[in-house]
Amino acid sequence: MLLAIEYDVMLQFEGITKRYKKAGIIYPALEEVSIRIDKGEFVTVTGPSGSGKSTLLNIAGGLINPDFGNVYFHEQNIYLFNNSEFDDYRKRHVGYVFQQFHLIPYLTVFENIRMVCSGLTVAQQIDSYLEKCSLQPLRNKYPSELSVGEKQRTAFIRAIINHPDLLLADEPTGNLDPLNSRILMSLTKEFNQSGGTVILVSHDQDSKQFASRHITLDSGRLISDQKIT
Ligand SMILES: Nc1ncnc2c1ncn2[C@@H]1O[C@H](COP(=O)(O)OP(=O)(O)OP(=O)(O)O)[C@@H](O)[C@H]1O
Ligand SMILES: [Mg+2]
Repeated sequence: MLLAIEYDVMLQFEGITKRYKKAGIIYPALEEVSIRIDKGEFVTVTGPSGSGKSTLLNIAGGLINPDFGNVYFHEQNIYLFNNSEFDDYRKRHVGYVFQQFHLIPYLTVFENIRMVCSGLTVAQQIDSYLEKCSLQPLRNKYPSELSVGEKQRTAFIRAIINHPDLLLADEPTGNLDPLNSRILMSLTKEFNQSGGTVILVSHDQDSKQFASRHITLDSGRLISDQKIT
C-alpha cells in the first residue's frame, strides 16, 4: 500500500547562483543551489568559511538578489513581491539573527527589541526573554556597552520576539559560553516545537543535535543534504 505523505513546502531555493566580482575576478558564492524546506523543519547549514552559508541566508531573507534562480515562500516568488509584500515578508514572516548582529547603536537593549514589535507585544514579554537570556540587568544599556555575546543574545531575542514563521540564524551561538549557548538553543528548539521553521548556520555539535536535517555547502555548492530520522 502506498502512503500519501503531505508536505507543506515553506521555502524553496531553485537553482540559486550568486557570484561576486572583485577587480575583474569572479568569486562564486553560490552555484546552482536547490533546496526545498518544509514547514516545521529544523535545518542546520555547515561548511568551511566562504562556502556561501551567509549568502544563502541573505538570499532567503530577501536581503540580496541571486544572479540566477528563484526563492519561493509558500510557492510565491519572493523576488516578485511588491514593496509592501516584501516589507511584510521581512517584518512578519522572517526573523533574522545576523552574523554581525546589526543592532541599532543609539537604542538600548530593550529598545532594540521593542523596535520590531507591534503594539501587541507588551514590555513584559520582552522582559521575560531578557530574564531567560540573563540580559535583564543590561536592559537599558547601549550596544557599545555590551560584550559580543550579550549583543548576540539581544539580536536573537529581537529575531524571535514576534514569533515569525521562519527563523534565519547565522551562527547565533558563535560567541556564547556553554551555558548561554544551551539557553539560546533551547529557545530555538521551543520556537521550532511551537511550529516555527529554523535554518541555522552553525558549526557547533550541540546545536546540530536539535536539528532534523543537516545541509553542507562547499565552495558555494550543496554537497550534502541529510535528514535525521
Ligand atoms: N559583498 C561581497 N562582496 C564580494 N564578495 C563577497 C561578498 N559577500 C560574500 N562574498 C564572498 O562570497 C563567498 C561566500 O561568502 P559567505 O559570507 O556567504 O560565506 P560563509 O560561508 O558565510 O563564510 P563564514 O563561515 O566565514 O561566515 C566568499 O568567498 C566571500 O568572500
Ligand atoms: Mg557567514
